[in-house]
Amino acid sequence: MKNHTSTLDIVKASKSKIEDTDFENLTFGKVFTDHMMECDYVDGAWQTPKIKPYGPLQLDPSAKVFHYGQAVFEGMKAFKDKDDHIWLFRPDENFRRINRSSERLAIPAFPEEYFFSALEELLKIDKDWIKKGFGNSLYIRPFVIATEEGVSAAPAKKYKFMIICSPAQAYYSGEVRVQFSEKYSRAADGGVGFAKAAGNYAAQFYPTNLAKDAGFQQVIWTDANTHEYLEEAGTMNIFFRVGDKLITAPTSDRILDGVTRKSVITLAEEFNIPLEVRRVKVKEIIDAAKSGELKEIFGTGTATVINPIRGFGYAGEKYELPKLEDSYAKVFKDKLMKIQYNETEDKYGWRY
Ligand code: COI
Repeated sequence: MKNHTSTLDIVKASKSKIEDTDFENLTFGKVFTDHMMECDYVDGAWQTPKIKPYGPLQLDPSAKVFHYGQAVFEGMKAFKDKDDHIWLFRPDENFRRINRSSERLAIPAFPEEYFFSALEELLKIDKDWIKKGFGNSLYIRPFVIATEEGVSAAPAKKYKFMIICSPAQAYYSGEVRVQFSEKYSRAADGGVGFAKAAGNYAAQFYPTNLAKDAGFQQVIWTDANTHEYLEEAGTMNIFFRVGDKLITAPTSDRILDGVTRKSVITLAEEFNIPLEVRRVKVKEIIDAAKSGELKEIFGTGTATVINPIRGFGYAGEKYELPKLEDSYAKVFKDKLMKIQYNETEDKYGWRY
């Protein structure tokens, strides 16, 4: 069936894959819904977005994305409430951020009305893929790639903006321990650390593999100049609780302006939790761990929501964190999920 509106072309899949999907045993980001959104940039303009059956792309081997990594992405989630209404969490933030990322990689901005009308339509068409219940969601992955043929190292003149969706449960299963980086770094001043540039993630894989070999799931990156300050983990912003006080690093051109991070900062104020947004020294966290003042470390991110860290390693030493009754991570996660699943009032207007 083909529908055409002035702003969207829709071609529906002839057969759904949903019956073949085991929603009880999902691996993060492995299964995709029946449809995807695709919009091409050619001749200096974004063309009419299309919703079409999910499937492979055909690209020229010289497409610039393959050679220069001119690509950015976003991570968002849709939730279904008890009455089958579908909600997004602060999608305007993701929309603004993908265009900020694009600007840094010399990719043309995507129009807001295309983004929201295509996303809404895609979610309506694939709504059965969103399951109810805390922890179930649809992970939404918008991304842009440079498709122009040719290996000259210059910004492409052709791009594809796409949205694909994957039913999700937890991002990490099991306990997460992190290694504080002593050698590698994720981002540098003036660089692309703040952007969700594809290459930012690829560059973490090798040091993260080394950390995995040493028994950790992720790395907390330290600043590139001195390695004395803790900045961000591979897929999360990071918060430290020392005594009753919460500390997190300020965003900068090295650190991603996480949507969950900024929501936690707002909630900390609401819950009267003392919070300092400032640089976090490795030494102060090690000292706090040794003196017993370090109560919690947790990561925040769209995929992971709030992820408690059980322990960490630094300079050959391993540190375990206490199991708390009154964990801040739990308080934030409960509140965020209630907002996301429409089970509490939304006084900040975060639901869409
Ligand atoms: C997200 O939380 O959406 C992320 O971008 C992490 C991703 C690399 C899985």
